[in-house]
Amino acid sequence: MNRQRMVVGISGASGFIYGVRLLELLAELNIESHLIISRAALLTMAHETDYKLADVTALASHYHRADDVAAGIASGSFRCLGMVVAPCSMRTLAEIATGSSSGLIGRAADVTLKERRTLVLMARETPLTLAHLRNMTAVTEMGGIIAPPVPAFYARPQNLSQMVDHSLGRVLDLFGLDAGTALRWGEPSPSATGHSATMKELA
Ligand SMILES: Cc1cc2nc3c(=O)[nH]c(=O)nc-3n(C[C@H](O)[C@H](O)[C@H](O)COP(=O)(O)O)c2cc1C
Repeated sequence: MNRQRMVVGISGASGFIYGVRLLELLAELNIESHLIISRAALLTMAHETDYKLADVTALASHYHRADDVAAGIASGSFRCLGMVVAPCSMRTLAEIATGSSSGLIGRAADVTLKERRTLVLMARETPLTLAHLRNMTAVTEMGGIIAPPVPAFYARPQNLSQMVDHSLGRVLDLFGLDAGTALRWGEPSPSATGHSATMKELA
């Protein structure tokens, strides 16, 4: 495998921009991205952003239809670093937690778990029901990582894009990748934040 590869699922939770920005960061890191977008995510895209489907698919190295369960990424033989679902709806979480995939996002996540690769779910809902919590526990017990997109206020974000970039920077950390967007306690802030002081000085 010449280029490292990652699967990116965008499901219909609020926060479509997390998926978009993740694709941009992966391109900057020269990681080959394989994108799947659920039907519900097309609704959040329209409600939350000015993006059209073609704008988003153009950011990915490869785009796979959500019902294409014959895609290469549906097989464990597809070598990659793992998969991020950004954002992850409670429906997609439930599907992954129960291993009952109905489409390519669920299948690719299932494959990621069975091959013991890194699966990160940016699960988004509030407040949470017991079913949501139990599903998060089940995914964690199977080796997946629940990483809700919760802003870190110690990072003193100046705008939404800094909040998004920090959360995604911490997700990429889970794969050993550094896009330079995560603010690190006690270290000089990355240029993306516009700060020159260290985080301790800002605190
Ligand atoms: C504007 C909008 C925002 C939504 N936000 C959330 C959310 O934050 N979390 C969630 O679990 N579902 C949310 N939903 C509902 C999901 O889209 C819905 O459960 C859908 O069936 C999920 O399908 P998917 O998992 O295949 O993407 C939202 C729906 C819309 C239209």
